Amino acid sequence: METKVAIVTGAVNGIGRAIADRLVENNFTAVICDINQDEGQKLEEKSSDFEGEYRFKHCNVAREEDVARVVKGVIEEYGQIEALVNNAGIIKRRVGEEISISDWDQVFAVNTRGAFLFCKYLRPQFKEQKQGRIVNISSIAGKMGDITSAPGYGPSKAALDGMTKTFARDLAPYNVTVNGVAPHAIETDMSSEWSEEKRKRIISEIPLKRLGQPEDVAGAVSFLLSDAASFITGEIIDVNGGFLMD
Ligand SMILES: NC(=O)c1ccc[n+]([C@@H]2O[C@H](COP(=O)([O-])OP(=O)(O)OC[C@H]3O[C@@H](n4cnc5c(N)ncnc54)[C@H](O)[C@@H]3O)[C@@H](O)[C@H]2O)c1
Repeated sequence: METKVAIVTGAVNGIGRAIADRLVENNFTAVICDINQDEGQKLEEKSSDFEGEYRFKHCNVAREEDVARVVKGVIEEYGQIEALVNNAGIIKRRVGEEISISDWDQVFAVNTRGAFLFCKYLRPQFKEQKQGRIVNISSIAGKMGDITSAPGYGPSKAALDGMTKTFARDLAPYNVTVNGVAPHAIETDMSSEWSEEKRKRIISEIPLKRLGQPEDVAGAVSFLLSDAASFITGEIIDVNGGFLMD
């Protein structure tokens, strides 16, 4: 079976890791772009029972020179890139008047500019291939505002959703689909700061009465990368246990 290549950002931990695992199971080489050098290298050494494999590239998605270097290297090495999953994201929890402008900017630099940079540098390759899939990992906070006092986070994800639709229109003539996945309340490091009380309240407000798992998001991404989703573009799929039904 032919191995396909997918770039997944922020994939050493959490949701990105589950996406990379699913890709490797599905015969992809998952090129993991993350700032966590030690864990990333361990992942590259991890053997897989499947045909696909893990590759690690140290990359801060907010830095243009990092993204340009990684994209150039991956194209030189593999020639063809089937998919890009922009997953790297951060949150800074402070109420409005307490968040510093540098923290607010940093949230946008990782969550929004990082995804833009990968789209920008991969665009010529996808155009030439006349084939490709992009999935941007957004958040419910992009649609309804942030519920955890993170004034930069919701806007950064709303901008990401706008960018998803913009690139969906832009790349549609080249047979490239661009979609988003908007999770809510997934059990990862990002949600581990919640107090027990807050966790219980969040679960009580979710119709399916549980937190999501990284694999729940990976399932939606896997669908968007599959042939079954070839006529879907510019869509933001909710993975939220029914918390928001729009
Ligand atoms: N966990 C949730 O409840 C939840 C809900 C909605 C949306 N999301 C989104 O899902 C995505 C993944 O979140 P998660 O919960 O798995 O987070 P996480 O904190 O568990 O993992 C984030 C990963 O991104 C990497 N990373 C951080 N900054 C980076 C940078 N500048 N460049 C490259 N890599 C970087 C980290 O090293 C880590 O591997 C994010 O975009 C997040 O906004 C998460």
